Amino acid sequence: MAIKPLPKLYNDKYYKRLKDDTRLQIFFGGASSGKSFFIAQRIVLDTLNGRNTLVLRNVARTLRGSCWNEVIKAINALKPVLRDCFNVSKSEMLITAMNNGAQILFAGLDDVEKIKSITPANGVLTDIWIEEATETSYDDYKQLEKRLRGESRHAKRITLSFNPVYKEHWIFRQFFGDWQDGASEYHDDGLSILKTTYKDNRFLTDDDIKALENEQDEYYRNVYTLGNWGVLGDVIFRNWRVENLSDMNTDKPLFGLDFGFSSDPAAGVKVHYDRAQKKIYILDELHEKGLTNSQLANILKPWVGNHYITCDSSEPKSIKELQNLGIRAVGAKKGPDSVIHGVQWLQGHEIIVDVKCQRMKNELQLYQWRKDKDGQSMRVPEDRNNHLIDALRYCLEHESTARYAGTLNLKGL
Ligand SMILES: Nc1ncnc2c1ncn2[C@@H]1O[C@H](COP(=O)(O)OP(=O)(O)OP(=O)(O)O)[C@@H](O)[C@H]1O
Ligand SMILES: [Mg+2]
Repeated sequence: MAIKPLPKLYNDKYYKRLKDDTRLQIFFGGASSGKSFFIAQRIVLDTLNGRNTLVLRNVARTLRGSCWNEVIKAINALKPVLRDCFNVSKSEMLITAMNNGAQILFAGLDDVEKIKSITPANGVLTDIWIEEATETSYDDYKQLEKRLRGESRHAKRITLSFNPVYKEHWIFRQFFGDWQDGASEYHDDGLSILKTTYKDNRFLTDDDIKALENEQDEYYRNVYTLGNWGVLGDVIFRNWRVENLSDMNTDKPLFGLDFGFSSDPAAGVKVHYDRAQKKIYILDELHEKGLTNSQLANILKPWVGNHYITCDSSEPKSIKELQNLGIRAVGAKKGPDSVIHGVQWLQGHEIIVDVKCQRMKNELQLYQWRKDKDGQSMRVPEDRNNHLIDALRYCLEHESTARYAGTLNLKGL
């Protein structure tokens, strides 16, 4: 079924990319620049033309709130022209075009079994879209590349979309060798790159634009407003790595919680602490905006059970409410210098993060020392990218302050 894409439904910079058969396509740039929306729009049209697309993110549980919704929005936007052209199964995360049986499949890279077995009902996979591709590893990318094989009348394509978080990233090293700073496009035989910013998205509201233009932080402005590859400042944690900890059981889990509602998330961590080895295992995370305390309690109950959870003590009312709702919530003590002390204490450990804890990985990658106006690093952490890290400090507060107190006591002897 050929439908003619109406230019008014697309941002101009993307329109000609509707027909681009380059093997590797990179859409990167600032926040709200229309990348995800466009790729979803294109996938919907491509499916009607018989292409089978696998949509991926690093972590399965982030799919529904992002790519899945984008594709559904793109289908709905075409409803006036294309009534009931798709069979949508939310439970299976599978969308099938009625005209030709082509499919859009969704999976998380952490769902190894599903990734191995996933195949479209008709023909072969022709397309892979990796959303927020900077979250994925180079090894995963290489494996996925190999999935695009087999006979098809369509050219095989792999599409990556992301914000350019930092220049040391493997994506930069692999694919941006010929990229010119200041350019907005690059094209060779096997690679096309398109950079966009909010200025390329005419569907944004004035408030969206204002928020991006008012960004004061240099790093954030560079990456999310201007869409340039980030140059990280003085990153605080380098003592961490990622592992699959799904088989790890702990009989003494530690839980921490940082409160948040509209602009900040409620952020929780579940941790196993190995004091002898000085290892901190981050087993699970919770990261959600807009939760009332009773909704939060409902999520926490099965997660925390009868264990204590150490919470941000600046919200005693919330702690009380959680207690009344059956959660063993306690306030962190947070003495003077508790942030810097807690951070230094964490630096003295090896931190091992479970693969599924994507938000924690993002925070650990970006948490930095604040800079003064001359760009000099100050020994104060920036108050950003620290929701889960704060929760981590809280849940280990007992350990870190015990050691601290111990040192002081020894000194006093
Ligand atoms: N073609 C379009 N038609 C209607 N609305 C659009 C279109 N393109 C983008 N938008 C609007 O702009 C918003 C931002 O676009 P989108 O989410 O695609 O940006 P992005 O580049 O993926 O941003 P981020 O880097 O933050 O993920 C969308 O949520 C949607 O409301
Ligand atoms: Mg996006």
